[in-house]
Amino acid sequence: MTNIQTPHIKPNGVEIAETILLPGDPLRAKFIAETFLEDAKCFNEVRGMLGYTGTYKGKKISVMGTGMGPASIGIYSYELIHFFGVKNLIRIGTCGALQPEVKLYDVILGMASSTNSNYLHQYNIPGQLSLPASFYLLNKAYKVANEKGVDTHVGNILCSEIFYNADKNAMENWIKMGILAVEMESTALYANAIAAGVNALTILTVSDSLVTGEETTPEERQTAFTKMMEIALELA
Ligand code: HPA
Repeated sequence: MTNIQTPHIKPNGVEIAETILLPGDPLRAKFIAETFLEDAKCFNEVRGMLGYTGTYKGKKISVMGTGMGPASIGIYSYELIHFFGVKNLIRIGTCGALQPEVKLYDVILGMASSTNSNYLHQYNIPGQLSLPASFYLLNKAYKVANEKGVDTHVGNILCSEIFYNADKNAMENWIKMGILAVEMESTALYANAIAAGVNALTILTVSDSLVTGEETTPEERQTAFTKMMEIALELA
């Protein structure tokens, strides 16, 4: 039992597992805990950023919300890694497709993360740092997705710090460079994990397409999310 607490996570003695799933929405963390985990115990309620630890097929696993954007996931992932010893961090979220072959509800494994944010400035890298996912988690997730027959794209994703961009052409050059989809958290997660020598992966479900303008409803997203969650849970 640990009594460690941070400004944003107060587990009150509930253990946090070495492997954690990280949806953006804390209520989705609650849903995952209640639907898929056995003996789930809540380990965080600070700022409503719910976190739970339980077991899946006998293996200990945690799930916690991260909020939106690099700043928010940057805080939570840093504290999970440095104060609670988390070793495998798997973001599960939605994204906007940037390529015509990427369809609504497809699953994307973020092999690498690119960004328009300043998150990497803190490392004072004398050039452009590339941010790969953990090959260990990526390889495992890809195998599970294939076994389950889930259509999966693997490639470079864009972590944008802006959702409502004033520049309507902001995606154009990212699209030309083959970026599969845009989301808002992968860079901070991968950077924190790489800097600390632990494993991170982003698994995404396509909720909208910036190519066709198609969107899904919140209800449709819930169902589509299940495929992705089942892949992520097997990584425990
Ligand atoms: N932009 C950024 N993040 C997203 C999007 C988007 O269009 N869709 C889902 N997450």
